[in-house]
Amino acid sequence: MAYNDSFIKAGFKQHVDRLPVWYMRQAGRYDPEYRKIKEKYTLLEICKQPELAAEVTLMPVRKLGVDAAILYSDIMNPVASLGIDFDIVKNIGPVIDNPIRSAADVDRLRPIDVDQDLSHIMETIRILDKELQVPLITFAGAPFTIASYLIEGRPSKGYIRTKEMMYSEPATWFKLMDKLGDMVITYVRHQIANGGKAFQIFDSWVGALAPEDFKYYVLPTITRIFDELSDLDVPKIYFPGVSSGELLPTLHGVKANIIGLDWRVSIPEGRVRLGDKFAVQGNLDPYILTAPMDVIKKYAKEIIDQGIQKPGYIFNLGHGLFPEASLEKLKELTDYVHEYSEQAISAQKVHLK
Ligand code: CP3
Repeated sequence: MAYNDSFIKAGFKQHVDRLPVWYMRQAGRYDPEYRKIKEKYTLLEICKQPELAAEVTLMPVRKLGVDAAILYSDIMNPVASLGIDFDIVKNIGPVIDNPIRSAADVDRLRPIDVDQDLSHIMETIRILDKELQVPLITFAGAPFTIASYLIEGRPSKGYIRTKEMMYSEPATWFKLMDKLGDMVITYVRHQIANGGKAFQIFDSWVGALAPEDFKYYVLPTITRIFDELSDLDVPKIYFPGVSSGELLPTLHGVKANIIGLDWRVSIPEGRVRLGDKFAVQGNLDPYILTAPMDVIKKYAKEIIDQGIQKPGYIFNLGHGLFPEASLEKLKELTDYVHEYSEQAISAQKVHLK
């Protein structure tokens, strides 16, 4: 099978014959085979076994026929190398026994040492680089989103302690952003050097901030991350997470190629807010997958019709897949995106002539 680079092309706003598609959290509990593996091993145990982690990464690529793989790992993994003890607890998420609350806690964070602490993840990437016929997306959590776990100690609704530090101790906050920014830059560089073909920075929870606060407290670090990684010749994705529509106009200066959109802002509106500077990725509401297939296709068609109006569109969800999603529907959706977009793009070409 020839290498399928439609994701890379779309990421660089080049022409594609059919749209690339992948799903956030495409390796996961909706797949019975994955659930079987999870009966034996925890997420962290899987990540420590490169052959198995590579296999779990490959499973959705084979089953769904998606155009990109995403490394099976978690945004918390590199944090271990800073000296933070965490666990990923079933049905909760990342939990930290000693959350970061003070300037002294931030001072104690070590610089990341990928070779010493994360060599198993680099090995997984090297295995995948040999096996895959589609690009491997590697990733890191963005500083705000990682900080929210480090400070709250567990998943949170209001981010009260995170905001408390941000507003009450800005010097400590900015020091933390700097350290996490450094972590992201070093980690991503290693992932790409070992065979990653793109990267996504997940800022899943930053939509909790007002645009002015995002601009002041977070955006300088995001800008620095993409500036410092701008020499890497791979598509660079920033995903500002859920409820991020109001933040889009602040992103014009970020040297990313692709911005991930959630479902609250349409693709054309997202492009306008982004000043047409980026390719866009998204944005089907994942819970639409609970609907019958004809309803799912109706929503997907609308998004595809909007997406192909301009070069630089990648089909995805507006956030991650959930455990109750159906493998069969996802496969049918993936086929539909491919088939319908191929027809629509070729009809568009005829029309343009
Ligand atoms: O398929 C993929 O997308 C690759 C693997 C991946 C995981 N986590 C594995 C995982 C990726 C890209 C992530 C990123 C991640 N982790 C994010 C950003 C994406 C997002 O959803 O916004 C965040 C916020 C986390 C933190 C995290 N990890 C949470 C909140 C949870 C709990 C969720 C739950 O439903 O239990 C995790 C655990 C986790 N990471 C799971 C998976 C497949 C689910 C539990 C498991 O299978 O062990």
